[in-house]
Amino acid sequence: MVERQVVSVREWPRHAGPEGISARAAAASPTDVSGARAAAALGAWSPDRAPESFPYQEVLDHFVAVGRMYAGERVTAPLRAIAVRVPADSWPLPLWLPSTVDQHNSTYDGYLLTRLLLSVVDLDDERSVGGLLGGLVADTLLAEAAMLRSTPGRVCRARTAAVASVLGRLSSSDGAAPADDREFADHAGRLATAFLAGLGREQALVIGIALLPITRMHDEHMFFRCVQIFEMIYAYLCRRIELAGVALLRGEIVAAGEQLDRAIWWLGLSRPLYRVLTTMPRRSFEIIRVHSDGRSAVQSRHYRRIELLCAPRPAGPPAVGLPPVEPVGATLQEIFTSIVDSIGRTTVAPLVCRMADLDRAWRAMKRTHWGVTLKIIGDDRGTGGTSGAEYLKRAAEVPLFPALVDGAEWPR
Ligand code: HEM
Repeated sequence: MVERQVVSVREWPRHAGPEGISARAAAASPTDVSGARAAAALGAWSPDRAPESFPYQEVLDHFVAVGRMYAGERVTAPLRAIAVRVPADSWPLPLWLPSTVDQHNSTYDGYLLTRLLLSVVDLDDERSVGGLLGGLVADTLLAEAAMLRSTPGRVCRARTAAVASVLGRLSSSDGAAPADDREFADHAGRLATAFLAGLGREQALVIGIALLPITRMHDEHMFFRCVQIFEMIYAYLCRRIELAGVALLRGEIVAAGEQLDRAIWWLGLSRPLYRVLTTMPRRSFEIIRVHSDGRSAVQSRHYRRIELLCAPRPAGPPAVGLPPVEPVGATLQEIFTSIVDSIGRTTVAPLVCRMADLDRAWRAMKRTHWGVTLKIIGDDRGTGGTSGAEYLKRAAEVPLFPALVDGAEWPR
């Protein structure tokens, strides 16, 4: 990975809130800003000790106070030294530490701490998936509710309501929202806290430590969590599509359709999630973008793998320097076309409908992403080296299963 320079912001906004810095950054103590507290705690810790005794909070407080890209050498130097000495079995440190010292060699997975998140989710267990995703949403809601309480008004309310509606889909929380902003903030805070309290120890720990924003901006907390949530949805989709292929190879049409049904349900979260993202102010995103060079989601392996698992894709990477995607065997479309005649077209009809539904949902998600991008960055180029919105618009036109679109003879 190419070494990148830290790009600096001359002056952070002074206020806390939308388009401003985070409440935690605004309230940071001088020793958290300087890193003195984190450095002292790291100096007193040794890799021979149990990972649970690691001074996460002190390190996180420094990172939140200054932004990951501006973490002080007095903190990153001991983190680097610990990263090379820490035993491989001292979870979660080997998965967490690299993202604390990636200021000059950033990647998308390092930004999101993808491997750490995947270490606490069983993609074959919906409760586990719901726990992790709901926990990430609840953590976002907690931060937005706190901001609404201190800064009541339309802007904070709209985002808090949007995040609460995502959590509502993942929990049994009721949707009735008090009209008064502060009461609504308390209500939303209680929903978030109740959800977080129901999580297992490992998921709760990971949700707490997997937030390493690269800037001091309040809006990055929301953005960071949204990207993490999408990435986990993509990972889940990969698994469901793989298993649909396995079922299809065995001739189990119903089972294959059920796998795709689950994929479609979780993909349905993308619409309310993009509603949250549309609350991103342009100015904030400009600042986040300046710092996210080398961390574009165009690098997402799970996203590209979804498309590769569905059907052969036209050759040619969309951007240079993309990480390799694990090779896939026969695609779902190839398996489908190889067995369809032996199984019979009428029998496969329900599955064709599921595949068409998945394609529709996938491309709708891509079109929404294009629309949001256009609203937030206009015609600017992407940080991943593509033409930006125009590239996304074209990408949203490519079907997941071209044979189904072209082959009008498939029964539906
Ligand atoms: C403020 C909101 C967002 C903006 C303005 C934005 C912008 C962009 C742009 C310009 C690209 C083109 C690639 C590049 O050159 O960087 C891109 C690609 C991509 N973005 Fe976003 N994005 C946003 C949010 C998200 C979120 C939350 C996700 C969730 C993971 C995401 C996932 C992706 C993916 C997977 C690609 C690759 C698309 C492809 O190759 O077909 N984006 N984004």
